[in-house]
Amino acid sequence: MSQTLTLRRPDDMHLHLRDGAMLEGVLPETARHFARAIVMPNLVPPVVTAAEAAAYRDRILAALPEGQTFEPLMTLYLTEATAPSDVAAAAASGLVRAVKLYPAGATTNSQSGVRDFDKVRGVLETMAGIGLPLCVHGEVTDPAVDIFDREAVFIDRVLDPIRRATPGLKVVMEHITTKEGVAYARSGGADLGATITTHHLIINRNHILVGGIRPHYYCLPVAKREVHRLALREAATSGEVRFFLGTDSAPHADPLKENACGCAGCFTATNTMPILAHVFEEDGALDRLEAFTSLNGAAFYGLKPNPGHLTLAKTAEAARWPAKIDTGAGPVTVFDPGFPVRWHVRD
Ligand code: NCD
Ligand code: ZN
Repeated sequence: MSQTLTLRRPDDMHLHLRDGAMLEGVLPETARHFARAIVMPNLVPPVVTAAEAAAYRDRILAALPEGQTFEPLMTLYLTEATAPSDVAAAAASGLVRAVKLYPAGATTNSQSGVRDFDKVRGVLETMAGIGLPLCVHGEVTDPAVDIFDREAVFIDRVLDPIRRATPGLKVVMEHITTKEGVAYARSGGADLGATITTHHLIINRNHILVGGIRPHYYCLPVAKREVHRLALREAATSGEVRFFLGTDSAPHADPLKENACGCAGCFTATNTMPILAHVFEEDGALDRLEAFTSLNGAAFYGLKPNPGHLTLAKTAEAARWPAKIDTGAGPVTVFDPGFPVRWHVRD
């Protein structure tokens, strides 16, 4: 007899869906298991205004295959020119659930991001007033700061000053990768949350660099030392309400990753739920998987848990998933955890 686990249908609180043929190719991978996702706005050009978010939402819903249901939770890309009134209107209409802060140059398609944080003070104050969360890509871009230190330095130099200057601002520390990130998330109250990805629970920096360079393990923020991975495991499996799943599943066509200057991003939409069941079981926390994937994130965003459920079953046979998803924009390699996973999502 197989062991089973039934959860509220999960939400992915940090997801890249892209646009056009890539969107069509990857959306079914997420919608198969997830009811909702916070959809990242780093398209080219980025999703900056409420009107652009509404149009992007329509394109996502149009790309959804017959028979699947999925609710995209839209975000706006914060620029130094973002108008507080546009943000407030987009939030009031229920269209936009968060605003994303990318320090300019920190990651894929972040050129339009923020250079001078004083220029976005008005928007942040408006957001604090209406309870609209700010999702933060927490890495400094100072070339003098080592890439492995960029998250910890960001917390001290940027995040903590922003939070002190804007009392009441709800902040999500996106895809935390360090023990410093875990500790800072724990230092806040109900206004501070943190997403953790699937892949950062599995890989450390050795996976990227030992025995040859592995472009499909390269993402931003880059995976850190083992001590940090273990801190993330402890946080994710703790059940604490501040920690929730944001896969940061970030598809790039293989030729753009297997490249002399490869793009950052791991694609985990397909196999996140089986991998997480494996991780939580290994850490003796299967009873806390639902909090991480289906309850804590919804609560942070003021949403009800999804009414539907998802059942996982553990069998003697390892789960199988395609090595690549074929999209109209090229093949996308699915994240390989590097060990057999015996949990399957029951369809
Ligand atoms: C993301 C992408 O490709 O859009 N890449 C990544 O490595 N995570 C951008 C991001 O979230 O930093
Ligand atoms: Zn991301």
